[in-house]
Amino acid sequence: MLAYVWAEDENRLIGKGGGLPWRLPADIAFFKKITMRGDMVTGRKTYETIPNRPLPGRRNIVLTAQKDYEAPGAIIVHSKEEILELEAKNNEDLYIIGGSALFKVFEDEVDELYRTVIHDTFEGDTYFPEDFDYGGFELVKTEKGIVDEKNKYEHTFELWRRK
Ligand SMILES: NC(=O)c1ccc[n+]([C@@H]2O[C@H](COP(=O)([O-])OP(=O)(O)OC[C@H]3O[C@@H](n4cnc5c(N)ncnc54)[C@H](OP(=O)(O)O)[C@@H]3O)[C@@H](O)[C@H]2O)c1
Repeated sequence: MLAYVWAEDENRLIGKGGGLPWRLPADIAFFKKITMRGDMVTGRKTYETIPNRPLPGRRNIVLTAQKDYEAPGAIIVHSKEEILELEAKNNEDLYIIGGSALFKVFEDEVDELYRTVIHDTFEGDTYFPEDFDYGGFELVKTEKGIVDEKNKYEHTFELWRRK
């Protein structure tokens, strides 16, 4: 099973200057809960934004075209096919955590979408792909996040499943 896990604002914005445009610890906790269920796949740029990498408790798989790329503690792969082979071999669910480039790469294979919608607009430079076809998916679960002192933005956790 292949899933995407990400958070976007009302304009599909996901990134700013190599990081996240917002601070929302509740979504980080949600991200951790979901990705701990299997292996995590990230684009090289997103991987380099993780402060204490690799993230513990799950395989960190990094996609890069650089043949000599090194990331201690992570598994380096160079193609989509290599990742799909790993999925078949390990019998583990794969959680694709972005960024934008990765969300294009697996659009035909992805089975589930864990989308956190942040009901606000932010400044930034990286977006979830505009042409992603939600027509092939159905929204099977929505849950409103709790707004509090540390989580100032209204947000909703959604789960979409391929029809
Ligand atoms: N809001 C969210 O949920 C969320 C989630 C993830 C990321 N983000 C944000 O998104 C931004 C980064 O996203 P991004 O789209 O710029 O970068 P990215 O997808 O993280 O990484 C892009 C890199 O992945 C490698 N890559 C991609 N497709 C490949 C392929 N088919 N074969 C081999 N290598 C491939 C390339 O690495 P090489 O250049 O090394 O070859 C490419 O430069 C950051 O701001 C980050 O904070 C937000």
